[in-house]
Order: sequence, then structure tokens, then C-alpha cells
Amino acid sequence: MQNIDWGSLGFKYMDTRCHVRYVWRDGKWDQGEMVEEPFFKMHIAAACLHYGQAAFEGLKAFRCKDGSLRVFRPRENARRMALTARRLCMAEVSEDLFLDAIKRVIRANEEYVPPYGTGGSLYVRPLLIGSGEQIGVAPAREYTFIVLVVPVGAYYKGGLQPVKALIYDDFDRAAPLGVGNVKAAGNYASSLYAHEKAKKEGYPVELYLDAREHKYVEEFATSNFIGITRDNRYVTPASRSILPSVTNETLKTLAADMGLKVEVRQVPFEELAELAEVAACGTAVVVTPVNEIRRGETVIRIGESGSGCGPVLQKLYETVQGIQYGEIPDRYGWCYEV
Ligand code: COI
Repeated sequence: MQNIDWGSLGFKYMDTRCHVRYVWRDGKWDQGEMVEEPFFKMHIAAACLHYGQAAFEGLKAFRCKDGSLRVFRPRENARRMALTARRLCMAEVSEDLFLDAIKRVIRANEEYVPPYGTGGSLYVRPLLIGSGEQIGVAPAREYTFIVLVVPVGAYYKGGLQPVKALIYDDFDRAAPLGVGNVKAAGNYASSLYAHEKAKKEGYPVELYLDAREHKYVEEFATSNFIGITRDNRYVTPASRSILPSVTNETLKTLAADMGLKVEVRQVPFEELAELAEVAACGTAVVVTPVNEIRRGETVIRIGESGSGCGPVLQKLYETVQGIQYGEIPDRYGWCYEV
């Protein structure tokens, strides 16, 4: 194993000991194997390459205060991957197989789980692809399910750093009745163009409005939108085309525990200016506070100081992390020991 400087890990790929790989043929999954080489020999006509039959998930394993290794809410990811598989006409991975796969790969790569106290975690990336050859447009007849892992660092070393977000009126993330509500790899490919453009303009994240009318807030390119109102309500958009985020679900529960009213409803663009706190939320970062949102010539500043993270988001962030590292009791049984 290479020497890892745990303190300087970012969110970038690194080879680990192995990944686990299963193949589905003739209606069933094989026993799976641990593969050391980070390469994959594939048919040149594989359906994932030509027709985008590819789905993925993201979750994290933590080395906890008591030394145990725990994964956060893996069943939710298993269910979501099954929904994506159904929507893309792919072979489904059962919850049992999913859990077994992540357990196998995490145990085999145990030395890559960052030590407790470094703020790092082991990012777990399940990937499901149509690997069978397919030249007519139809579902593949062979699928491959891979789970790979990468150690990642604390996203925010010096505390939660707010970022600026940009709304484009000439790009949409997902069609109203399309595949925005599942974790199809193609959703990420189609967001890259606007994302690179926004970055060049100095905006690390883009916020999308509903594709039909551009009236309501939907989500950031790769994470859900959450807002905290001045009278302490937790607001997050209801939409048929946003990805059901496990982190958002978690935050909703914790916000309700903290006494906030949780509202899942349409969020008109005009309401942004009234919010006290705004964030993007997802597995990779938990929450990314947003202190400014621009749409054309309109610039909306969020919150009081503009420079830090609001108190409600800060508390939510600390609570999630506390549960993940085993410092706060896991009242809901979210952590899964491997
Ligand atoms: C997450 O926040 O976990 C995401 O979905 C981004 C990921 C694709 C890196």
C-alpha cells in the first residue's frame, strides 16, 4: 500500500487494493470476484458505451470513534440504484447483493479507510453498466456491477466555505418527465457543458430551474437544493425531475428533530431572495452553503454576513457528521457496520 497523507486527501481518484465485480447473464448474477487491476476489458459494442445504459451510486464508509467501520444508509442507495436500473431497463441488483458487495470491497480495502479524527472517509462507488454487445437500440443482455472505493478527505478543512451559484436560462438539467429522478450516468455528462462554463465565469455550482417554465427551483447540477427561511422552516423543492437525495432525506429528519418545520413543495425563483440560508446537499460534501445566486443581471445575496455558513446549516452539518463518526447516537439506525 502506498503511503497516504490522510490530512491532504481531496476528492480525487486513487488506486486501492481492489474492486468487486459481478456479472449478470441468463437472468442471474454470478458470485462476484475481487479484482486488483483497475481496468476492465469490454466489448466494443457494449450498450453502456453506445446507448448510455449506465447507473451509479455514491456513499461513504467511516472509521468511527469506537474503531468500528460503518457505512451511512446503504439501503437507501441500494433502493435508488434499483429504481435507476428499472428506468434504464437494466438488470436489478438486489438489496442483499448490494450490501454484500459493499461489505466485501470495504473489508478488502480496510487500510484505505482514513483514521478517525482526520475528517476523511472511504467513498464507495457502485456502478452498474450494460456490458453486453448491442447494436440495435435495445437493453443489453449482459450487465456488470462493480463497486470501487476511494479514500477522500474532509471537504472543508477550514470550516464550511460558502460558494456562489449561477442560474442559466439557456440550459436545463432534466426534462420534466425524463430521467432526472434517477442516477443515470448520462445526467452527469449532460451537465458538464454548463458546469465548465459556470466555473469559467467564477461560479462553482449551477442551480437549475424547472425545465417546463423556468419558474421554480429544482436542484444544483449534482446536489439537491435546501433553504432555511427566516422563521426557521426547512424548504426543499418537490419535483418529479430531481434526484431523491439520501443526504436531503437525512437533513429533513434532523431538521424536524431540531424543531424546524419541513416543507417539500414548489419553490418559486422569487422566494430565493427571502431565504436566510441556502445550501447544496449531497453525499460528497454533506452541505455546501451558497451565499450568492446570479441569474442574468439579477444578483441575490443570501444571509446576513455573506461570508460564513448560517447557524442552522452549520448545526445540521455537525449533527450528520457526528452520527457518521459515531459521536452522536444513531437514533434511526442509519449506520451499517461492515
Ligand atoms: C454527491 O454529492 O455525492 C454527488 O452526487 C456528486 C458525486 C457525483 C461526486
